[in-house]
Amino acid sequence: MSLKIKGTGSYVPEQILTNADLEKMVETNDEWIRTRTGIEERRLAAPEQATSDLAAIAVQRALEMAGIPGSELDAIIVATITPDHIFPSTACILQQKFGAVRAFCFDLEAACSGLVYSLEVARSLMKTNAALKHVLVVGAEKISSVVNWEDRNTCVLFGDGAAAVVLENDGQEGGDSIIAAKLGAEGNPEILHIPAGGSRNPASAESVANKQHFIQMAGRDTFKLAVNAMVSSCRDLLDAAGVEASQIRYLVPHQANYRIIKAVGQRLGIGDDNVYVNINRYGNTSAASIGICLDELARGQQLKPGDYLLLTAFGGGLTWGSILIRW
Ligand code: UT7
Repeated sequence: MSLKIKGTGSYVPEQILTNADLEKMVETNDEWIRTRTGIEERRLAAPEQATSDLAAIAVQRALEMAGIPGSELDAIIVATITPDHIFPSTACILQQKFGAVRAFCFDLEAACSGLVYSLEVARSLMKTNAALKHVLVVGAEKISSVVNWEDRNTCVLFGDGAAAVVLENDGQEGGDSIIAAKLGAEGNPEILHIPAGGSRNPASAESVANKQHFIQMAGRDTFKLAVNAMVSSCRDLLDAAGVEASQIRYLVPHQANYRIIKAVGQRLGIGDDNVYVNINRYGNTSAASIGICLDELARGQQLKPGDYLLLTAFGGGLTWGSILIRW
């Protein structure tokens, strides 16, 4: 059997929030945001759009590229920290939208590393269960719904978006698209989290008044940990796969901060021309970010068969992970 990326899709909502717009909302300025983060603008979902609505457009595009209807999906995995509901899973909501009646469905929570985690889970499942011919992996967030728009430390960073990948076991001899993965985690729940809304601090009038349903992040600490974790996981992965950094066509890092992206590329010895960046347009879309990059690459005619892509992510948990793809 060989496991192929058969389709990709992505979607960002229409409304653009620029740095100039943010200057009117909190005490910040375009220069600070650009130089500290690399972000110029980000997208915001409409009030009536939930995460599954963003995801559905990305999924539709991925299914079209794959050339299969939703009814041929055998599993749906959705990576998100902004599900439509605590339950049912956003994966089940997508199943209904696409008539994916024979799929099993679940959400996976690994924050910004969610898509990388989900791709590796999907790969592992497909390698051990030949009955799984098509698996849909989604990374989608309406992250604006958990951003405190009065907190300049976080509100300038995030944006909404969605991405989808259709994996196929084509039953043929030959190499896999996903060659290898290296996932990691280090429980550190305080550094990057949403304090309330779960069983520890259920929603209450007090939790709402104290703005505990929004993302809180110790930015500087997270920055250092992110660079170190992504670099070492990429190095371990490349070593294990016997691939040199110089062979990587594109490093596709989670788009959290341009300075992090640049540092990871430099430390791996991968030049700027081979590092994919779109943070300037979308900000940090959490679990969607790497998938949006992948879809832009797939549709932009920049990739040739055989090209190596190195995906690497870091997020709350803390979690991290890297995946090596041969296109
Ligand atoms: O996706 C999950 C993983 N997330 C990440 O990896 C994000 C990691 N962290 C970061 O990207 C960066 O730490 C930030 C962009 C969040 C912050 O950049 P920084 O260079 O680490 O700045 P800082 O937090 O050390 O703050 C520097 C100064 C502070 O002022 P004082 O205390 O030096 O007077 C902040 O209050 O910048 C101030 N500041 C701002 N100023 C203007 C913080 N946010 C803003 C803002 N506009 N939006």
